[in-house]
Amino acid sequence: MVYNTVMMKKGILIVNAFLKTEQVKGTYDMLLAAAGRAGIDLTLMTNAQFFVDLESGIAVTEHEDDLQDISFILFWNKDVFLARALERMGYRLFNCADAIEACDSKALTFERLKGVCRVPKTFKIPMTFNTVGYDDLSFESFLEQKLGYPYVIKECLGSYGGQVYLADSRKKARKILKSIEGKDCIAQEFISESSGCDLRAYVVGNRVAAAMIRRNPDDFRSNIANGGSAEACSVTKEQEDLAVSAARALGLDFAGVDILFCEGGEPVLCEVNSNAQFRALRDATGIDVSDEIFRYIAETV
Ligand SMILES: Nc1ncnc2c1ncn2[C@@H]1O[C@H](COP(=O)(O)OP(=O)(O)O)[C@@H](O)[C@H]1O
Ligand SMILES: [Mg+2]
Repeated sequence: MVYNTVMMKKGILIVNAFLKTEQVKGTYDMLLAAAGRAGIDLTLMTNAQFFVDLESGIAVTEHEDDLQDISFILFWNKDVFLARALERMGYRLFNCADAIEACDSKALTFERLKGVCRVPKTFKIPMTFNTVGYDDLSFESFLEQKLGYPYVIKECLGSYGGQVYLADSRKKARKILKSIEGKDCIAQEFISESSGCDLRAYVVGNRVAAAMIRRNPDDFRSNIANGGSAEACSVTKEQEDLAVSAARALGLDFAGVDILFCEGGEPVLCEVNSNAQFRALRDATGIDVSDEIFRYIAETV
């Protein structure tokens, strides 16, 4: 027990070397400050300080000293090859590589969540090669028939609402598909009751640590980065069960879960974020979920 407490004192935060927005810096600052409050020696590193040796399967670094005696790695990154290599070397990653990978692609997320919780009707859009594109968009009639207009098209890899589109007519749908050809995409039922409004529930372990309602009266996408506003809220048991069951099924230790409201306010899953930003959540709720994250890590390692 004493041994565990001592071991817990040292960890590494691995962030992406190339993503430098104010928003992500805000999250890293919150994590570093929370580690300080928890008495944890947390060293900031980037994925560019490691190379995955694909022959041996392990990660090599010139900063080996920083890895001495660490008991966990907070992997705030989507570089899953690096994450897998570090796991092969025996490190416990939060979140783990497999869960990060499952969240990174919206198609993979929904594939994994089959039968777990309520999700909107969602179809994977037929793949094409980015060197080839679509020379025939007649397959789109299937989506028109199954989803009706408007429906939502999402690039599988996207964030902040930037790669989420509303197809409100056949012409628009085909224009969107043509403009993103070569990228993995999904088409999804538009939950009209939830237009411009969703719930962001931040799950840590088996509970929702903080939640906010996001609203945008001018856009169906309620992301803060897209002009939405946020207000603290509590969650119902049904909302908490949905958020926690999705996070658990994906193998996440913590996650930002987006929930839409359909008829009668019933919650339906929108997406799951393994590396959600949480400064806006703190500003809206007064809750700093990074404290919860370190409490959870201390209980786990
Ligand atoms: N099926 C849908 N019906 C209604 N609104 C949606 C739907 N999917 C997404 N949205 C809106 O778009 C926003 C962004 O979509 P999301 O899937 O969370 O992608 P991102 O990774 O860009 O945040 C959501 O927060 C929500 O407001
Ligand atoms: Mg989202």
